[in-house]
Amino acid sequence: MSSTATAANMSPADRMADPNWWRQAAVYQIYPRSFSDSNADGLGDIRGITAKVPYLASLGIDAVWLSPFYPSALADGGYDVDDYRNVDPKLGSLADFDAMVAELHGAGIKLIADIVPNHSSNRHEWFREALAAPEGSSARDRYIFRDGQGPDGSLPPSDWESVFGGSAWQRSVDQDGTPGQWYLHLFAPEQPDLNWDNQEVRDDFLKTLRFWSDRGVDGFRVDVAHALTKDMTHPLPSKDELGSEGELQDGSHPFWDRDEVHEIYAQWRALFNEYTPPRTAVAEAWVHSSRRARYASPEGLGQAFNFDLLLADFDAEQFRAVITRNLAEAADSGASSTWVFSNHDVVRHATRYGLPKGGGREGRGQDGKAWLLNGGSAAELDLVTGTRRARAASLLMLALPGSAYLYQGEELGLPEVADIPDAARQDPTFFRNQGVDKGRDGCRVPLPWTAEGESFGFGDAGAHLPQPREFGAYSVESQEGDPSSTLELYRAALKLRRQLQTSEELTWISSADSVLHFTRPAGWQSVTNFGTEPIPLPAGTMLISSGPLDAGLLPADTTVWLS
Ligand code: NOJ
Repeated sequence: MSSTATAANMSPADRMADPNWWRQAAVYQIYPRSFSDSNADGLGDIRGITAKVPYLASLGIDAVWLSPFYPSALADGGYDVDDYRNVDPKLGSLADFDAMVAELHGAGIKLIADIVPNHSSNRHEWFREALAAPEGSSARDRYIFRDGQGPDGSLPPSDWESVFGGSAWQRSVDQDGTPGQWYLHLFAPEQPDLNWDNQEVRDDFLKTLRFWSDRGVDGFRVDVAHALTKDMTHPLPSKDELGSEGELQDGSHPFWDRDEVHEIYAQWRALFNEYTPPRTAVAEAWVHSSRRARYASPEGLGQAFNFDLLLADFDAEQFRAVITRNLAEAADSGASSTWVFSNHDVVRHATRYGLPKGGGREGRGQDGKAWLLNGGSAAELDLVTGTRRARAASLLMLALPGSAYLYQGEELGLPEVADIPDAARQDPTFFRNQGVDKGRDGCRVPLPWTAEGESFGFGDAGAHLPQPREFGAYSVESQEGDPSSTLELYRAALKLRRQLQTSEELTWISSADSVLHFTRPAGWQSVTNFGTEPIPLPAGTMLISSGPLDAGLLPADTTVWLS
């Protein structure tokens, strides 16, 4: 296992120059349209982020991961990119972006940009050219166009389904208005899949990665990293012949996790390594855990998300198994591990843990995709328990070796907003499932900064997704300075973590089945009680606790750090 100097001992400038900065980083995800609105249009923007850099610095994070900020019609919250080398004018300009990077770097905070290589938007100039060009043209070859089945080609080329529901094929309309070929979209129809067998596509992404790296972007989060290369040999297999995403271990699926994808990432790695320090990357790859190491290898992207903790119940046995396996896998790949409880695709963990174990998951896809969790029903939600568990889980996560990926608002203990009116919903998963799956809007509601006022300080106009009245009590203003608040818990934990994280070792201490107890180097210990009864505390000096102790005992659903 490699070791890094204690981040707290390093000056911000040394931290910025450290090539290992990512190994044990606390990375805070900003979903820009819901973070802070500087120009009163109801949509968060780049200047809004810049204005909040002091807040980000006060949290003690090492990096920001910025979800897509590119020009987009927002058919999928910005993951439908019109132009990869620009900023959405609704969010600002390239000059605003540069100013934000300078401000973040000045505060010792790195920037990880989200990159979306599997699909562009249908408004990208390449796709418009493809629609205007004849069948078999080089413009069409940048995407995946195929003839339809049946005598008049009116049936899709295969019965494959899109991740968001419905067919994965959309019929295009030719210039003369007649129905034409079909194009593949693994996600929404507004997100046509790019053809990664096309050299121009590969070259253009290298140009994009260089464009942002030259502008000071420190790393990339790679969207659907496991989908880029495809075997489209005819006849296409039917959906019943395909294994599920994340299940196959032999690279035989026509579009998920094919071995050829790693040729692309080897090229990207060569580009990243031209920079000092090298640019980092983390793969969003829903692959079988045995196949994750290749994405995370030093010859590849360098790190890969594991969503195993996010998918686990609040359960000691499940957590222990996930942690043990992932630390071993990360060590094998040469990467450090990644940990996630919340992001813009899943039900916020304060709510998830307030639902019955395994419950509230009726909307979960057959392939186990967490973003299809639908939040459960209000009647079965116990938010007090959920919040207590979320705090305990987060404190445990922050004690683990590896990178902790935090999602905006989790430091406020925000719950999922379950009751967004259908008319206000935006997520294509909602629309493409006839509303059966409520979609992901509930975790994307704009942040509350103040206890009162228009959109709780998000901006001077309304918020693009309605905020519930109780958001005021969750606001930064309401929590700041209150040592029992979730915000102050995160701040204190992140500060301590920075001082305590040295090498990446973790040693389990034997404990009751419902308790997780481990030590980190220099005698730092973390203990979590997943059981129902208070337990005695091990010997040591208390550093921080996710909740109050009970007559000197560690209560249920609580984590403490001891030295
Ligand atoms: C994964 C992203 O996290 C999600 O938000 C998006 O909808 C899909 N990829 C498609 O880009």
